[in-house]
Amino acid sequence: MFKFQANGRLVLLLPCGIALLLGLDAGLLLLGLPAPLTLERLPDVHGMLMTIGFVGALIALERAVARGGGWAYAGPLGMALGALLTLSPAPVWVGGVVMLAGTCVLLLTYRPLWQRNHDPAVAIQVLGAFLAVGACALWARGVAMPMVVPWLTGFFVLTIAGERVELARVGQLFDAVAVRERRENQALVLSMLLVLVIALATIWPQWGLPAFGVTLLLVAGVFAWRDVARRTIRSTGLPRFSAAGLLAAYAWLVVAGLLWLRPQLEGYRYDAVLHATFLGFVMSMVLAHAPVILPAVIRRPLPYGPAFWVVLVLLHGSLLLRVVADLLGIDSAREVGGALNVVALLALVATAVVSVLTARSPGADTPEPSATVGAGPVGRVSP
Ligand code: HEM
Repeated sequence: MFKFQANGRLVLLLPCGIALLLGLDAGLLLLGLPAPLTLERLPDVHGMLMTIGFVGALIALERAVARGGGWAYAGPLGMALGALLTLSPAPVWVGGVVMLAGTCVLLLTYRPLWQRNHDPAVAIQVLGAFLAVGACALWARGVAMPMVVPWLTGFFVLTIAGERVELARVGQLFDAVAVRERRENQALVLSMLLVLVIALATIWPQWGLPAFGVTLLLVAGVFAWRDVARRTIRSTGLPRFSAAGLLAAYAWLVVAGLLWLRPQLEGYRYDAVLHATFLGFVMSMVLAHAPVILPAVIRRPLPYGPAFWVVLVLLHGSLLLRVVADLLGIDSAREVGGALNVVALLALVATAVVSVLTARSPGADTPEPSATVGAGPVGRVSP
């Protein structure tokens, strides 16, 4: 039974993996570099392949596993297959509608968690999922990608922030309950403000986008300050690795916030703000959590090793090169940085696959995620 479930989850990982590979291919095409595939639509759908088809579907898959499976699997399936459908001969909006349906299912998977104890950490993630629904609805209606980007950004920022609020409880065990509750309610208010600003920025981008930048700076500052990563960076092994990935991610969110203060919706500066967010913040968070998320999803151990540090350094080093080149307008360095970004993500996948394949078979130390529902969006032990 468990074997069947694990295999089922592996099958669900497949469309996410294909979306990643096609998204990377499209990224190379957008940079004007040679790429294995040159489908006409690829560059136009790179953003949705990466955000909804790959990372978003991974988040939804983890959520579905933590919820115990069943209909919740329609979330990741819809998001990943919808993204792939945008490359089929069908009109692009068809893929958009399927992605939209997937994000609606993701939103619904939070319902039982919310009903259980009206937890502010869950409410923050619900707001994140709501922004994912909004992003897909706007995209399916043909709204230009730069106006969809704040919604996608908010989806990831709030999903991750909600989880960090939950994990912060571990470090606040000795704080008074009232203090903890006040901090969590403040985090919820800040998250609601972010949603409001994103909605307003869609209507009045001229002042709304700089306001979005200010709110991102506020979110990055508050969440980084309260994150247990500031303490665990002084530990060793996996907790230290995760903390390094988390703190670097917050730093990139600050960069993105600063760039939004003077928004530019095309060209090199646009590239810089996009990838400070999606590679610097989102992918660094994914990498920081990978050794704990993936075992919960595929129910196989993913031993942490020094190779993860190599991927982390490659990701941030190549991104720094790209963003600096973007801001200085140096084409060649931007291309090298972008190509190395692709290598970093492929190295992440290779490290994960090799670690899983060479690990001991699953033992008692591999948590059964359904037993940890409500423990957090990734249903695992705190990094
Ligand atoms: C790893 C290598 C990557 C490369 C080489 C790459 C390359 C690019 C390029 C060149 C653009 C066009 C920017 C412009 O118009 O100035 C772009 C846009 C974009 N990228 Fe990436 N990217 C990568 C990874 C990612 C990832 C991991 C994500 C999300 C998780 C992402 C999300 C986006 C989004 C949302 C857009 C906006 C698309 C649009 O405006 O149509 N990218 N990317």
